[in-house]
Amino acid sequence: QEAHAAEMERTFIAIKPDGVQRGLISEIVSRFERKGFKLVAIKIVIPSKDFAERHYHDLKERPFFNGLCDFLSSGPVLAMVWEGEGVIKYGRKLIGATDPQKSEPGTIRGDLAVVVGRNIIHGSDGPETAKDEINLWFKPEELVNYTSNAENIFH
Ligand code: PPS
Repeated sequence: QEAHAAEMERTFIAIKPDGVQRGLISEIVSRFERKGFKLVAIKIVIPSKDFAERHYHDLKERPFFNGLCDFLSSGPVLAMVWEGEGVIKYGRKLIGATDPQKSEPGTIRGDLAVVVGRNIIHGSDGPETAKDEINLWFKPEELVNYTSNAENIFH
């Protein structure tokens, strides 16, 4: 069981400053929780511009890079690590399409956001980025190993 927990898939999820300022933390956390995923790390931080640039380093060449980094560092971000079978891909499904005009109703962005520059949440887009982003935002000792009732969902 310990080994199983150690191998369990993890993803990095962040509620961006617009989501925090709008009071959407509990709404968003509850969607991941009710699905059966397990929260293994959480903290609220105001990232520096430099930190935001590191987080979004893959997007350096994009025209919106500077604005996106300014935005991420403009206020408190709720940084989290969620764990569970398929959590990377399914987390993206819960979040919905990048552009809230295209995200389906029932998804976080579909239900709660309107424009791409204010799409309230970020989720890692694959196993490599998940690993990198978790390492960027969290120290190893900030990740908690525990058994939750949600484990019943996977057995
Ligand atoms: S893209 O265009 O396919 O690269 O978009 P995507 O990979 O889905 O998005 C990467 C992140 O860039 C954000 N994004 C934008 N921000 C502001 N303005 C515009 N036009 C824009 N387009 C994409 C998008 O929300 C992604 O950030 P995260 O934090 O991962 O959601």
